[in-house]
Amino acid sequence: MQKPTVRAFFDENTATWSYVIWSETDTQKRCAIIDSVLNFDLPSCTSSTRSADIIIDFIKEKQLAVEWILETHIHADHLTAAHYLKEQLGGKIAISKHILTIIATWVPIFQTQDDTSLDGSQFDHLFDNDEKFTVGDMQAQILHTPGHTPADTTYVIGNAVFVGDTIFLPDVGSGRCDFPGGSAEHSYDSSRRLFALPDDYRVYVGHDYPPEYRRGPQCMCTIGEQKQLNVRLHLGIGKEEFVQQRQREDTGKSVPQLLLPSIQANLRNGQFGQAVGGTQFVKLPVNKL
Ligand SMILES: [Fe+2]
Repeated sequence: MQKPTVRAFFDENTATWSYVIWSETDTQKRCAIIDSVLNFDLPSCTSSTRSADIIIDFIKEKQLAVEWILETHIHADHLTAAHYLKEQLGGKIAISKHILTIIATWVPIFQTQDDTSLDGSQFDHLFDNDEKFTVGDMQAQILHTPGHTPADTTYVIGNAVFVGDTIFLPDVGSGRCDFPGGSAEHSYDSSRRLFALPDDYRVYVGHDYPPEYRRGPQCMCTIGEQKQLNVRLHLGIGKEEFVQQRQREDTGKSVPQLLLPSIQANLRNGQFGQAVGGTQFVKLPVNKL
């Protein structure tokens, strides 16, 4: 089994892990970037490319060629830098075909039909369920792993598994399932799809929220460790027990601070709405009294 080299980058503000993956045997040094971050300060509505520029510097230093810019899902807690990275480095932006469900859910809420394509054409490629592809000389495959959102995708690249928010490190558990179209039942089923992979495959998570006893964020464990140790989803936990616990935890949970700008921009690969007089805008829909 091919063992990709993985470099992880942690964004402190949003507790997000981004990854660059490549094969040491690929003469063309092709790589994939997974789940990048565009920095966004909410009170001042100021964006910056500080986190993405660290990745760009790394890729240039290593002389890697970007083949893919992959998204595990439409993030609700941070903005993606996919569009900026493509502008700077090239590569194809790709996400699950189930993104169409997310677009259909959120664009009417934001009323952003004028500047957000409804057919997914803003992405270079929409992956089918279980689609196979390559990253450089490595075999890769999609696993549709819904639950956190209906469009969550896991990327299996060689023996490395990029799960997004499908599952977190064993002492953290799993992602919330209370966004529109989310499902604790599907989340449990998705974990069992992951657990069908070999025990020694490496699981790379989309976020880490380390408990106090840990010295800081970590990004990786194995499938075997998840099966034995995940506090919410280990093999001894049945579906009903998980669903009840997940729903209890999600009840009344506050929405992520960056929910509205994140989803809105991420449906355009991290771009803001059409500029008016040189200024871009984020829409904030308000409930009717
Ligand atoms: Fe997420």
